Amino acid sequence: MCGIIAYIGKKPAQPLLLEGLKRLEYRGYDSAGIAIINEKLQVIKSVGRVRVLEEKLAQHEDLHGTLGIAHTRWATHGEPSDSNAHPHTDDAEKGHGIALIHNGIIENYVALKTYLEERGHTFISETDTEVMTHLIGELYEGDLEAAVQAGLREVTGAYAIAVICEKEPDTLVVARKGSPLMVGVGKDEYIVASDPSAIVAHTTQAFTLDDYTVAKLTRDSFRTTTINNVPITPQVRELEFSLEQIELGTFEHYMLKEIFEQPEAMRMCLKGRIDPHDGQVVLGGISDHVRELVRARKIIFIGQGTALNAAMIGEYLMEDLARIPTEVEFASEFRYRNPIVEEGTIVIAISQSGETADTLAALQEAKNRGALALGVVNVVGSTISRETDTGVYLRMGPEIGVASTKAFIGQVMVCTMLATFIGRRRNLSRDYVAELLDELEKIPDQIEKVLALSDEIKSVAAKYIDRENWLFLGRGYNYPVALEGALKLKEISYIHAEGMPAAEMKHGPIALIDDGMPTVFVATQNSQYEKILNNIQQVKSRSGRVIAVATEGDRHIADVCDDVFYVPDVSESLQPMLTVVPLQLLAYHAAVLRGKDVDKPRNLAKSVTVE
Ligand code: M6R
Repeated sequence: MCGIIAYIGKKPAQPLLLEGLKRLEYRGYDSAGIAIINEKLQVIKSVGRVRVLEEKLAQHEDLHGTLGIAHTRWATHGEPSDSNAHPHTDDAEKGHGIALIHNGIIENYVALKTYLEERGHTFISETDTEVMTHLIGELYEGDLEAAVQAGLREVTGAYAIAVICEKEPDTLVVARKGSPLMVGVGKDEYIVASDPSAIVAHTTQAFTLDDYTVAKLTRDSFRTTTINNVPITPQVRELEFSLEQIELGTFEHYMLKEIFEQPEAMRMCLKGRIDPHDGQVVLGGISDHVRELVRARKIIFIGQGTALNAAMIGEYLMEDLARIPTEVEFASEFRYRNPIVEEGTIVIAISQSGETADTLAALQEAKNRGALALGVVNVVGSTISRETDTGVYLRMGPEIGVASTKAFIGQVMVCTMLATFIGRRRNLSRDYVAELLDELEKIPDQIEKVLALSDEIKSVAAKYIDRENWLFLGRGYNYPVALEGALKLKEISYIHAEGMPAAEMKHGPIALIDDGMPTVFVATQNSQYEKILNNIQQVKSRSGRVIAVATEGDRHIADVCDDVFYVPDVSESLQPMLTVVPLQLLAYHAAVLRGKDVDKPRNLAKSVTVE
């Protein structure tokens, strides 16, 4: 949530920061702002999208300077407005020309604000961030790095910040605790950003700041310390990220691009990890913990949103294939619930970004209670990936669209491999695993076949485009897919949609059924096929309109449903990776047809780094 970019070097900062803001806009887009130092500090900000800021910047031809910071906001404290937009500056009267951008939440800002007001500070915004800026100004005695360190010793909460000061035109100070921040190391320049997408165009060398770490950057050197000024040496590494991966190319939206990238991304996810011939799954990341995993007495999956839906499929897979009792829980509930974590419990945190605040906190809670923590994460080097004891990366490539698509499929794929890895060492025969892996290897090709339905799915979306309420139903492995279909539809098209187990419908929701409400059934051939056909009949006999996702060759279902999308026939445990694809496309086309901003849905941000 919120995108941060900062630059110190020899190039004009303004165009570089603006380009970075555009790349980071998916992290938050309520308002944006920029501050540049060229002898004097200049700050320009604006409510709305980055393009609004860009228009404003076009009227400021004097915004030169090679040191600057910029921010795109997702509001937490204070509504989106010009004054609440970042950068914030220190006190107008007694300040030093300090400007600061922030991603996170300062929890003790009320107490700090009272203290600062007593000392004569006047605040112009409703944000917690402005309080931190004033605090640093209050503590400033001619050394920005020291003032930032001292200020951060007083704050509680989460932060990634970048700070500049008119009195120190050759210094950029950045720091983090709990929110992501990365320093790109170029030749005579540093680019600091919330994620690599704003860095890779300039350098592929970068380091990640640890919690409670401050970096002081000049044009040709840097030093990193703790907030108590103890020097530390960060590890500069090569970013595994290319510019091409984050360009839109010929696609109209990142969401569509990412849906269509799924086959290739899955091939990357699988590469070198499965050997159908020998019936082996090879997961290097967990090699030091095989014994604990195989002897696990209980598995608890945690995640939020789409990651939680993938975790629910993980639960079915772990119980089916590895025969280990498994639970799934919203990370946000787990962290406050006094959970029982007994010996032999493995907690698996699923997260695309690896930065979701609730998932991170739940993971820390689980570790404190003695669980082994395993991460299923997409973003390499993210906080969750670093805080887990062991893990498996998704390798699905960067996901920019706020609605998660390819990460979901990657999460399910990794859960499948994990369950098979453990299952093979507990109870599954070599032949069974060999057959399953053989099928798994073909999934990317089969997804390609489903993607070819895009136009057909668009026509069906158009048919029901004026409907405001939808139901998504599935059973077994396809129940979490129904949840994911409903989540996709509501988050990008703002249509009300509910997902639930198909059998649950008759316990209440069936009262909603009439010819105005489309019901989507995920009704592929599997152990519960006959049951779900009954559920379809129950809807049809009440004049309901039914759209089904069914198995290729199932002619019968076409007779009872209004519209059918066919997917290839695969084993029950692998079906979600195919059945979710038509639902992703349905949500995408519905949102586009309704004229919505698919990649930046209202009120949302890609990575939820606050509670
Ligand atoms: O980065 P994470 O996977 O931890 O994010 C979890 C959810 O915030 C995320 O999946 C969210 O639900 C998406 N917008 C769904 O499309």
